[in-house]
Formats: sequence, structure tokens, C-alpha cells
Amino acid sequence: MSSSSSFSSITAISLILLLLNLCCPFDTLLAKSKLSNSPTFHQHHSHKNPLHQAYIALQAWKLVIYSDPNNFTSNWVGPSVCNYTNVYCASSPHDPLIQVVAGIDLNHGDIAGILPDELGLLSDLAFLHLNSNRFCGILPSTLANLILLYELDLSNNRFVGRFPLVVLSLPSLMYLDLRYNEFEGPIPSELFNKTLDAIFVNNNRLTSVIPSNIVGSTASVIVFANNNLGGCLPPNIDKLANSLEELLLINTNLSGCLPPEVGYLYKLRVLDVSSNKLVGPIPYSIAGLAHVEQLNFAHNMMTGTVPAGVCVLPSLKNFTFSYNFFCEEEGPCQNLTSRGIVFDERRNCLPGKPLQRSKKVCDAVLAHQVDCFDYHCGGSGAAAATPLLSPPGHF
Ligand SMILES: *[C@@H]1O[C@H](CO)[C@@H](O)[C@H](O)[C@H]1NC(C)=O
Ligand SMILES: *[C@@H]1O[C@H](CO)[C@@H](O)[C@H](O)[C@H]1NC(C)=O
Ligand SMILES: *[C@@H]1O[C@H](CO)[C@@H](O)[C@H](O)[C@H]1NC(C)=O
Ligand SMILES: *[C@@H]1O[C@H](CO)[C@@H](O)[C@H](O)[C@H]1NC(C)=O
Ligand SMILES: *[C@@H]1O[C@H](CO)[C@@H](O)[C@H](O)[C@H]1NC(C)=O
Ligand SMILES: *[C@@H]1O[C@H](CO)[C@@H](O)[C@H](O)[C@H]1NC(C)=O
Repeated sequence: MSSSSSFSSITAISLILLLLNLCCPFDTLLAKSKLSNSPTFHQHHSHKNPLHQAYIALQAWKLVIYSDPNNFTSNWVGPSVCNYTNVYCASSPHDPLIQVVAGIDLNHGDIAGILPDELGLLSDLAFLHLNSNRFCGILPSTLANLILLYELDLSNNRFVGRFPLVVLSLPSLMYLDLRYNEFEGPIPSELFNKTLDAIFVNNNRLTSVIPSNIVGSTASVIVFANNNLGGCLPPNIDKLANSLEELLLINTNLSGCLPPEVGYLYKLRVLDVSSNKLVGPIPYSIAGLAHVEQLNFAHNMMTGTVPAGVCVLPSLKNFTFSYNFFCEEEGPCQNLTSRGIVFDERRNCLPGKPLQRSKKVCDAVLAHQVDCFDYHCGGSGAAAATPLLSPPGHF
């Protein structure tokens, strides 16, 4: 998925360690958390050596690791946790003379096991990367103690159950990656009240429409793909304009018309709404997406004209709109090759273009004009798509 690439640099361990070493505003949070959070885990914390706490946590974890084919944890023996492979220590942000466990990176370990309650003892952890393992079960609520946790990557595991609410209580979290698990049920709307930079929840079993308060999000990347959400894209999506750079809603059972407000997301580089049940035209306002590189509307039931304003977008590299019912292309759209744009326009109703749908199929669909005013979105949370009749003047 194209969206992962932009974040690989963030995961550089050196950056995190640097972050930790900078004097940080977390002291007050820590103090608050000591008063309010799970007393069993914090009661003794202040008297105890954090590396000893980490030792207890990591040994408890090792006990519930049932398979470690790549020996990622085989040297997790004895109290010198900073010598364990895949465990990273750094100076405590509260006291530079004290070493703490700041990160754990078991990416691609193929490890099978669960996450024990004792992980809540790793209260100095800034990153936890468990991508591509076989961890299963649910997340322990004690993870709420990880008040410095900045990156949580649980992708490609076997976690189950409702969306893990404990992640919502992590005050420092910026990067949340839960994709490729088996989380089910609604996406909690609180998720969008957090100052997260990246939200990856694709390829789970999440249901419920896109929460209407998605508009409170500050994320630059939002990936919901391959969940069964349903409903329409909320028109007030334009509230994300100052932050959103990648929006991937592939195969999320999205219906209705694309609201013109999508075109106000001027920072977007990737917009992919393919494999849904979208109807109606491409809003003219899409011509406002000056930074968009990847545009994918494929496999919907969209109709109307492919607007010139989209085809002349200065950054556009790949424009995919195959498997719809578009029946006309404005001038510059007719030869995208000459503009250096990779495109796929197969299986539409475009006169004179190869590999189009039959006249019979096209006529049947095009006989029914879509009224975006009147469209019923299904679901409950998302408002109906707004009308497309008057594209805003400045585009
Ligand atoms: C892991 O360690 C076991 C026992 O020492 C060894 O047999 C196995 O080959 C090691 N696996 C890998 C991938 O290094
Ligand atoms: C970590 O390992 C190195 C050598 O592998 C050793 O010199 C050092 O003493 C170990 N650290 C601790 C704290 O045991
Ligand atoms: C999100 O924040 C807004 C404004 O701060 C607040 O009104 C709303 O209740 C919050 N929603 C949730 C689900 O926490
Ligand atoms: C898709 O969403 C609609 C509501 O918009 C819902 O009625 C329908 O059951 C969903 N489809 C599937 C396959 O779940
Ligand atoms: C263009 O985008 C489509 C849809 O995302 C993708 O399948 C295709 O591989 C892309 N082509 C190139 C050359 O990037
Ligand atoms: C599109 O433009 C290219 C280069 O400008 C040209 O070679 C090609 O024949 C054109 N294709 C069509 C279908 O007009």
C-alpha cells in the first residue's frame, strides 16, 4: 500500500531515541497518570528500577510466547534487558542518568503468543512494533500505562475483538497501525478526537459508517480500506483539509455520491475510493487537488463526464477510473498518455475507446439519472451527500 512508504522514516529508531532525549512535556502527564491510572502498576513504580520492571514484563511476555521461529527472543535471559535483541534502551526523559526500555521492535518475527498484562510495566516505552507476527487475543488494558507511547504498530497479527479502546487512552500516541487483524464492530468516534498523525485500520472486520466526527481528526493519513463500513462519505470531510494527505477507502461499502467537499482537501496526494458503490459524477471540485498524484475511482457505479480539470492536475501520475459508467471525457482527458499520466479507463461507456461496456448495459444504467440530493446513504452516522449541482466558483 502506497501509504506505508511515507512512514518508514518515522520508524527510524534514532529519531525516537532523539525524541526521548529531548526534554519533554510529559512529566506532568506522568504525574497525573500516577494518580489516576491502574494503581497496581504504578504504586511501586517510583521506588523501583525501571529496568527491573522491564525485566519482569519481558520475562512474563516470554512465558506466553509459544513460538519464536526466528529466535527473536531467545537471548531474553537474565536481568540485562538492554542487551536483549530487539529491545532498545535510552536515557529516561525524566532523568538522563537512568536507562529505560524505550522501544521494542519485533517486526517480522512470525512470533506466536499473547500480550500479557505485565506489558503495562514498560511505562517508558516510546515505540512498540509487532508487525507481521502471530500475536493473538486482545490487548491488555494495562497498556494504558504506556503514557510515552508514540508509535504502536500491531499490523498483520491475529488480534481480535472490538476496537481496542485502550489505544484511545494513550496520550502520546501519534502513529496507530492496527491493519490486517480481526478487530470487529464499530470504529469508535473518539479515535478522531486524538491528535494522531496516522490511522491505519484497514483489513479488519470493522463495521459502522465513517463516524461523522472524523472531521475532528488531525491525521495526515487515514486508511479504512477493506472493512464493511457502509454509508456515505460525510460532506464535512473538508474540515480535514489542513492535514489530510492520504485517504484510502477501498472496498468499504461506501455508497452515495462523492461530496464536492472532497475537492477542498487541497493537501491530498492519494485519494482511493475504488471498489465501492459510489454513484453520480466526479465533482468538478476535484480539480482543486493540486497535489494529488494517485486518483482511483475504479469499480463503482459512477456516471457523467470525466472533467478536464481533473486531467490537467499538475501532480497527477495515475488516474484510474475503470469499471464505472462514465460516458464522456472532456478534451484533455482523451489522451492522458500525452500528458504522461498512467491511466485505466476500461469498462466504461466512452464512445470510441477500446474495451468499453456494451451499449445495452450502458443505456440501461444511463437511463436512470442519479439525484445526489435525494440519495439515501444507509447507515446512521453519515449525513447524506450534498448536491453536486453548483460547483464552487473558485474551482
Ligand atoms: C533458532 O535456534 C534454534 C536452537 O538454537 C536453532 O535450531 C534454529 O536453527 C534457530 N533458528 C533460526 C532461524 O536461527
Ligand atoms: C551486555 O553485553 C556485553 C557484551 O555482549 C557485556 O559486556 C555487558 O556487560 C552486558 N551488559 C550487561 C548490563 O550485562
Ligand atoms: C470530541 O471532542 C469534541 C470537542 O472537543 C467533543 O464535543 C466530543 O464530545 C468529543 N467526542 C468524543 C466521542 O469524545
Ligand atoms: C453496505 O452498507 C449498507 C448501508 O449503506 C448496508 O445496508 C449493507 O448491508 C452493506 N453491505 C454489506 C455487504 O454488508
Ligand atoms: C495505478 O493505480 C492503480 C490503482 O491504484 C494501480 O493498480 C496501478 O498499479 C497503478 N499503476 C502504476 C504504474 O503505478
Ligand atoms: C496521444 O498522444 C500521443 C503523444 O502525444 C500520440 O502518440 C498518440 O497517438 C495519441 N493517442 C491518441 C489515441 O490520440
